[in-house]
Amino acid sequence: MNNRQLFLQHVAQTSDAPLALEMKEAKGMYIYGVDGKEYLDMIAGISVCNVGHCHPDVVKAIQGQAASYMHLIVYGEFIQSPQVAYATYLSNLLPNPLNCVYFTNSGSEATEGAMKLAKRYTGRHEIIAFKNSYHGSTQGSLSIMGDEYWRNAYRPLLPGIHHLDYNAFEALEAINHKTACVIAESVQAEAGVKAPSKDWMQALRKRCDETGTLLILDEIQCGFGRNGTLWAFEQYGIVPDVLLLGKALGAGMPMGAFIADKEIMWSLTNQPVLGHITTFGGHPVACAAGLAGAKALIEGKYIDAVNSKKELLLKHLKHPAIKDIRAVGLMVAVEFESFNLNKKVIDQCIADGLITDWFLFAANCLRLVPPLIISEDEIMKACSIITKAIDKVLTP
Ligand SMILES: Cc1ncc(COP(=O)(O)O)c(C=O)c1O
Repeated sequence: MNNRQLFLQHVAQTSDAPLALEMKEAKGMYIYGVDGKEYLDMIAGISVCNVGHCHPDVVKAIQGQAASYMHLIVYGEFIQSPQVAYATYLSNLLPNPLNCVYFTNSGSEATEGAMKLAKRYTGRHEIIAFKNSYHGSTQGSLSIMGDEYWRNAYRPLLPGIHHLDYNAFEALEAINHKTACVIAESVQAEAGVKAPSKDWMQALRKRCDETGTLLILDEIQCGFGRNGTLWAFEQYGIVPDVLLLGKALGAGMPMGAFIADKEIMWSLTNQPVLGHITTFGGHPVACAAGLAGAKALIEGKYIDAVNSKKELLLKHLKHPAIKDIRAVGLMVAVEFESFNLNKKVIDQCIADGLITDWFLFAANCLRLVPPLIISEDEIMKACSIITKAIDKVLTP
């Protein structure tokens, strides 16, 4: 059997039509197939590789840390310098009171940890989330997912969860003194890039303050520079009580985090002790990689260029078949009239050497979330491949 057959036979599948491209290596903006074909990566492993694939500083950090030590013990017991260094670095980049980092294995685990933290800290159990939100695929994060089609098969899910309309002022009345936390994406990603208004975000913050409810902002996909500022919440002039990070946090290594004030985080330490347990969370190699990636992103001033790159992309990505384009920084949804057309364009783009895909709750939208290191030439190249792909699939 060849690798493709072995993949289909022995690697658990999540759909009956995986892309099944066999890749050999990846560098910067490009991924290379075993057949030598070059692909321009316009989705960065779904908002993960903000500094591109195999950034030399990240590779060096991984090699150095792997040679010193890898797994030593479950999370939280030993002082591990890569963990301390990354948590300190993040705390220094965050506004008060976000000063204490719990590292996890994934974004979903960060969501789980934050939901548990809110229950413990407030002594309440009701949670409010929003329609069309995505916070992960475990049962807790599925319970707060804002789409019945995707969560229905797993009922019964957690009780006490309410889903409100996102960006709707009247919905905020539902937040009350029984609500442990409100969890919202700073920009809804899987909904097809939907940003709330600044006024609404400020009203949400105010309502949480009035009711003693923790505000959890999920920046697992939209954070870490993708929206044009290091933290997406900066654009609303608010600070959450708990911040969720993942994806780009590990610069290509598996990693998530929930971050809060030390005083709030302290509630995981007693009655019962070990309020959230993880064996591999905060793995030293992932922390070393994440820190190197974060430094490369910030010191390379890539975030400063995000909005001008967005403008360039919007200027050149024009076609009559495109119904709408929503972009917040380099998080872009290109809307077509149907999933059918979108899927044909995606397949054509891939055939023509550009990696893209669709959104979970917006299947008629093509996803563009490239590494933030993308150059102006590569943006022009991407626009050209996409518009030509649309022409090709529309040509009878
Ligand atoms: C906004 C958001 N939250 C949470 C998650 C879950 O992260 P992970 O897949 O690392 O568990 C994702 C993943 O796509 C996400 O986009």
